[in-house]
Amino acid sequence: MERWQTSIDPDSESFRTNREAMGALLKDVEEQLELARAGGGERSVERLRSRGKMMVRERLELLLDRDSPFLELSPLAGWGTDFAVGGGFVTGIGVVANVECMIAGNDPTVLGGAITPIVGKKIDRALEISRLNRLPYIQFVESAGADLRPRGGGSPEDEMRRQLGHFAESGRLFHDITELSAMRIPTVSVVFGSSTAGGAYQPGMSDYNIFIRGRSKVFLGGPPLVKMATGEDSDAEELGGAEVHATKSGLADYLAEDEADALRMARSVITHLNWRKLGPGPSMPPDEPLYDREDLLGLLPVDLRSPMDIREVIGRIVDGSRFEEFKPLYGPTLVTGWASIHGFPVGILGNNGVLFLDESQKAAQFIQLCNQIDVPIIFLQNITGYIVGKVYEQGGIVKEGSKMINAVSNSKVPHITVIIGASYGAGNYGMSGRAYDTRFVFTWPTAKISVMGPKQLAGVMSIVRRAAAARTGEEFNEAQDAMITAGVEEFTEKASLALYATGRVVDDGIIDPRDTRTVLGITLSACHSNEVKGAQGYGVYRM
Ligand code: COA
Repeated sequence: MERWQTSIDPDSESFRTNREAMGALLKDVEEQLELARAGGGERSVERLRSRGKMMVRERLELLLDRDSPFLELSPLAGWGTDFAVGGGFVTGIGVVANVECMIAGNDPTVLGGAITPIVGKKIDRALEISRLNRLPYIQFVESAGADLRPRGGGSPEDEMRRQLGHFAESGRLFHDITELSAMRIPTVSVVFGSSTAGGAYQPGMSDYNIFIRGRSKVFLGGPPLVKMATGEDSDAEELGGAEVHATKSGLADYLAEDEADALRMARSVITHLNWRKLGPGPSMPPDEPLYDREDLLGLLPVDLRSPMDIREVIGRIVDGSRFEEFKPLYGPTLVTGWASIHGFPVGILGNNGVLFLDESQKAAQFIQLCNQIDVPIIFLQNITGYIVGKVYEQGGIVKEGSKMINAVSNSKVPHITVIIGASYGAGNYGMSGRAYDTRFVFTWPTAKISVMGPKQLAGVMSIVRRAAAARTGEEFNEAQDAMITAGVEEFTEKASLALYATGRVVDDGIIDPRDTRTVLGITLSACHSNEVKGAQGYGVYRM
């Protein structure tokens, strides 16, 4: 396999400008990560400590194998919303007793671990990742249950919608936990504190439950509710304390003396699972790329419309910078080819400009080839969309683009997508965006996700307004239109930023470009916990 020969000059003016812009974006991300790690703030953290408890990330550290990596997912969920950055919930992939597991845990310093819509989204995604990749699911439970805070200013209809949303979305978690078990994916709950009402079903639905003496409290209704409902007086410990569940109700399978003891027990449970991955292990030499990963900071132009050769990125993330390009002379704005990452063979699709007809056909053929040989696909998105215009419409761009989207939709090998720059419109779908059962979607801080470029979107709406005015014979107010257009462009630009998308759990997290190879290695390994099998059907056919 050929090794990619770079033509980048890291001392060039443009490279330096790009690197500075990326550095500023990374600094913003780092500041937000600090906020997320701080949890619910000093007062709540002190209260937690005064009760002799650990922060959620300290619990994680004791659970994970020493010096093993932990890939946190969606750490900035909630950014730019009414909810705390990070959402008060931690999810990620880590290694416990040599087994890659999905781990999800409440941060009780944020609203007592209440399940806000952001927490709901993170839980849903964690369960989905566990299900698709067949990763044992470990949850740290310490939750005040549903977010009971009334939303100020809303109408009764708004409140009703909020509550219905809760039942339609967050309530699904109990279903999904037990579904994992039915799929023979083990589920383990470590209950660190109170787990009331709906939250009681989290351990209720789990295969293994570890409770902590004097700490875990699990009941459908706490003492005040019981008093209101039946008039019975009770205290929390006799109603649902750890000892009661270990000796009387049978909900607790293991009774730990303290948090560290509980985490030791969780590791012991994973040890006895007799767990075997179904996918093959790495089979290629996992040597480092020839070029410095630091260069990844300076490759992407500040203006995403400027060209950038995606092979420069590929050459810095694949083993030994080896890349066998497929059809290099056909459909040149889409780069396709074979490589390996940390020893796992992969097919790669990367954008080098707008998608034309030939590129769409090439993509559909390449995706079928990957399915034919059971090889996962990495999508590197920097795409402003499919080509538009009379010639291309008449040539069948809708038909050809549909072939590509069809191939992506029905492909059965794992897809991992990294959005490094633009991700506009149907380009997002064709390059396996979040809605396409993509196993993992990460963004670089430079990513922009939108239905189309902000300028184009604002301009289209202006043309629509102008046409409507012409139809009704109304006078068109140029000054007002210019103001609206500028506003729409500014808003769309803001809403397309990586932080905005990550805040709403549209991706699995913003990553430092330098970590791309490591993140792909961890997630490829996680994908191979499940069988890696391509779609069965017709053989590959040329279009
Ligand atoms: N929704 C939103 N916020 C909640 C909440 C909920 N269900 N439960 C607690 N909070 C908030 C509190 O208002 C408090 O906020 P603050 O830090 O801004 O003051 C914070 O979480 C901590 O709560 P607090 O009661 O002070 O902490 P605690 O550790 O002593 O007790 C609980 C934690 C969970 C035992 C207790 O808050 C509780 O019983 N909550 C209600 C649980 C419940 O009945 N849920 C029904 C689910 S359907």
